[in-house]
Amino acid sequence: MLTSCTSDDLSTRAAAQVVNAHVADELHAGLLAPEAWISPKFLYDALGSKLFEAICELPEYYPTRTEAAIFEHYGAEIARVAGSNATLIDLGAGNCAKAASLFPLLQPAQYVAIDISAEFLCDALAHLRQRFPHIAVEGLGMDFSSRFELPPLVRAERRLFFYPGSSIGNFTPDEAHAFLRRLRAQCGQDGGVLIGIDLAKDKAVLDEAYDDALGVTAAFNLNILRHVNALVDADFDIRQWRHHGFYQPELGRVEMHLEARSDQEVHWRGGQRSFAAGDCIHTENSYKYQQADAIALLERSGFEATHVWTDPQRWFAVIHAQAI
Ligand code: AVI
Repeated sequence: MLTSCTSDDLSTRAAAQVVNAHVADELHAGLLAPEAWISPKFLYDALGSKLFEAICELPEYYPTRTEAAIFEHYGAEIARVAGSNATLIDLGAGNCAKAASLFPLLQPAQYVAIDISAEFLCDALAHLRQRFPHIAVEGLGMDFSSRFELPPLVRAERRLFFYPGSSIGNFTPDEAHAFLRRLRAQCGQDGGVLIGIDLAKDKAVLDEAYDDALGVTAAFNLNILRHVNALVDADFDIRQWRHHGFYQPELGRVEMHLEARSDQEVHWRGGQRSFAAGDCIHTENSYKYQQADAIALLERSGFEATHVWTDPQRWFAVIHAQAI
């Protein structure tokens, strides 16, 4: 679904809540799979987006502050490499804060915020329009994780896809490749990407980052069940599920799962399943890349890395890559 969000178009909030058949089919297939799964995109309803914001404040969750420090330290250089007057297309914009912090340096001609959680986006854009009245601001409520095409309201010139926060890590490497190819197809000869990628590191650091002491990540993960309940009239009892988040070094990824605390039956519109205590639903992968592998992935997808910025510990990389 694609929903544009302008300051005087708040009716899009209601449209954004419409659940299409594709969503129901995808949830149904995942819940009935031998190893049950729910796509991580369903982590982000209005509450899930707020919980993710809270995760970004946690001491254990290093990616946000590490990436922010890179932007803070190298912002002027990043803006020089990426160039001004771009059409800045923010993928998974959320509260738009990361892109907005770069506006004074990047000076985009147009800012296009895209997020699956249109309601969250509309609120953020209203603030942005007040703060930066000279920048053309557009919002699109859409799922860009599979196929997507930008509508004509998005300028064709100098498209710079901004994909921070290592969201690329939530795709498998094959999906990431297909995704980057789609970006390449939409950015012409003068476009590029500015992407944040989390790098492989010590297991203890990663385990804590995805299973924090306060239990915010647990709430974020469990909230996916609340969201599924709302989307397909399911009857998941949230209290009967437990969060797990841990690094699998041999697979190069953190995995999040929900484990049933008891035997139970879950129903949803058009389906049902019995879960035994200990059964798990896989809700997210978060791949952690070696820097060289991240650059190779971009190159295989039709981009040439022009610059890589990292933090002193080399935990996180911000990469600018130009279309080739
Ligand atoms: C959005 N994404 C990059 C986050 C990550 O680290 O994979 C989502 C997240 N999952 C648990 N904590 C944060």
